Amino acid sequence: MYLELDGRGALYEQLARSLKSAIVHGRIGPGKRLPATRELASELGLSRNTVLTAYELLCDEELASSRPGSGTYVAPAANTAPVGRAAETLQPQSRYAARLRKLGPIQLRAAPAGTRYDLQYGEPLLNPPLLSRWRSELANAAMRSDMRYAAAQGLPELRQAVCGYLARRRGVIASADDVIIVSGTQQALSLVARVVLDEGDSAVLEDPHYPLALHALRAHGARIVHTPVDEDGLVTAALPQRSPRLVFTTPSHQFPSGAVMSIQRRAQLLQYAVDHHCWIFEDDYDAEFRYESRPIPALRSLDTAGRVVYAGSFSKALFPSLRLGYIVCPASLRTDLVDTKRLDDMGCPAIEQAAMARFIESGRFDTHLRKATAELRRRRSALLAGLQRHAGDLLWLRDSRAGMHVVGWLPKFSYEQLAQLMQLAASRGLGLHAIHPLFKVAPPYPGLLIGFAGLSVTQITSATKLLGGCLRELV
Ligand SMILES: Cc1ncc(COP(=O)(O)O)c(C=O)c1O
Repeated sequence: MYLELDGRGALYEQLARSLKSAIVHGRIGPGKRLPATRELASELGLSRNTVLTAYELLCDEELASSRPGSGTYVAPAANTAPVGRAAETLQPQSRYAARLRKLGPIQLRAAPAGTRYDLQYGEPLLNPPLLSRWRSELANAAMRSDMRYAAAQGLPELRQAVCGYLARRRGVIASADDVIIVSGTQQALSLVARVVLDEGDSAVLEDPHYPLALHALRAHGARIVHTPVDEDGLVTAALPQRSPRLVFTTPSHQFPSGAVMSIQRRAQLLQYAVDHHCWIFEDDYDAEFRYESRPIPALRSLDTAGRVVYAGSFSKALFPSLRLGYIVCPASLRTDLVDTKRLDDMGCPAIEQAAMARFIESGRFDTHLRKATAELRRRRSALLAGLQRHAGDLLWLRDSRAGMHVVGWLPKFSYEQLAQLMQLAASRGLGLHAIHPLFKVAPPYPGLLIGFAGLSVTQITSATKLLGGCLRELV
């Protein structure tokens, strides 16, 4: 069951709120049995007590009742509408809204109060000099900017700057005409889905996967075909015989496993797209950061058949609230994508685009990337050294020498122990994040997704020590 915790208050309160919302919105129907407490605890990485207490809260509110020996059931009238109910509890008004409600809300989980070290993946590398630099780029751009609507495809100078950047760093040769400026990968995927998919069409998603991609595709009405990933990336031999319309992939640094797609697999995937007349969405989300290894050129750089839609983002390279990214699209999709972008938002904010163009063209972006990579390398080294020192025998590291996270597998732990580990760590102010919710088919043993961008070297050193202590107590 997909449940999001909102990070506010005790874990049992968060869980009760999330279940309540699922009941109220009809995602768990009246009379339905709630999942067994042990099962839900292991799925969410919580303790069984937390789940039991959340269920008790629902019973107290008469939204559910417990039947001894049988389980806890949603009350028969739990989501029947009271007279004069608020508009937001109405039936979904469209199939899209109905699918959204089924998916549940997407919230990026905030660390609970009392968290000292959150090893959360997705935190930006906070950098005060970058912020003051960006402020002055924006001020300069505002002086130069035209106040009228800009081109929906994006400012020509930014599209040109992106081409130069991609040729230098990602081996992608494109013309500014092929580039569309978007507000991040999320919009790129939603535009592409609208242009190439009808409701009911199938889309391949890697297993494990990026949950926001799953939501975007499901909300659009796609049927998802989960396809496994191994050490060489997406297992091309497991791609469906029946042609999908789209394959979503993260070849340079598979999210979240970290696998880098081998050259053979890249060739096979491109051939598959040609043979099956389908599109590949290449999400190149953190290609900038490589340690002790040369970046692998993007899949798009090998695409001679025009099947790859390449999406890049400034969310990792700069910061996610910027909401700027780009698509490099096959010429055959360009007009449809640009027209969709125009209908969506008339184009990205022009001042930010102008600032970004100048930032890249002046070389300051490359300087920033060099410094950010050096800092991330220091943090990553501290993480690896700390994990080796304090948990080397218990945590098997999957380190792809790229990006802003590593995966730590716990082969000696059960899922029950993982839940205990997460709770013990949380009680000591350490935020841990399980990887199994990102799998369709749960892995044989649990693992952690360990982000290292959001903490300083000193904090990372303390966090790994804490983690080692918690692991040792439970093994
Ligand atoms: C797999 C993956 N793709 C893309 C992104 C970036 O998305 P956006 O550009 O919408 O911020 C992220 C950010 O966390 C990610 O993990």
